[in-house]
Amino acid sequence: MLIQLTYASRTSSVFTLDDLASILKASQRNNARVGVTGALCLANGIFLQQLEGDRAEVNRLYHRILTDPRHREPAVLDFAEISHRRFTTWSMGSLAPLESNRHIFLKYSRSASFDPYGMGSATLQAFFSELLANGEWIV
Ligand SMILES: Cc1cc2nc3c(=O)[nH]c(=O)nc-3n(C[C@H](O)[C@H](O)[C@H](O)COP(=O)(O)O)c2cc1C
Repeated sequence: MLIQLTYASRTSSVFTLDDLASILKASQRNNARVGVTGALCLANGIFLQQLEGDRAEVNRLYHRILTDPRHREPAVLDFAEISHRRFTTWSMGSLAPLESNRHIFLKYSRSASFDPYGMGSATLQAFFSELLANGEWIV
């Protein structure tokens, strides 16, 4: 069964920008092996990640990610069965933490700063669709 899990978390005090590179490297290595695709955004000290794949694999991965000391306050924002994947061409893309994406963040946030904790399911889905279509990515 194909599912999609979307969660947010906050960077912890030990998080550095080198950590982002190492997270992406581990993600690309591990996710491809278990058939998980998705995307990771980091803005305003907040991660927003969408994971898609087999239900058991996504669960296993999410529980591993939860134990990572580089983030805190994880919250599942959306969990749903999907008929097809949104992300098909990479095992874990990362949105460039660039000013150029700010207009997309603002369009879908209730406040001037990026705040996915306050986004509902429909908004999250629209947000990721627009990021995929118009966002600037680093991987
Ligand atoms: C916000 C965040 C997202 C992460 N996403 C993934 C991921 O999608 N896939 C993955 O394998 N590891 C991810 N990690 C890293 C894992 O917590 C863990 O460090 C890694 O899977 C260990 O891989 P290794 O045993 O191959 O070194 C993420 C970590 C953080 C903080």
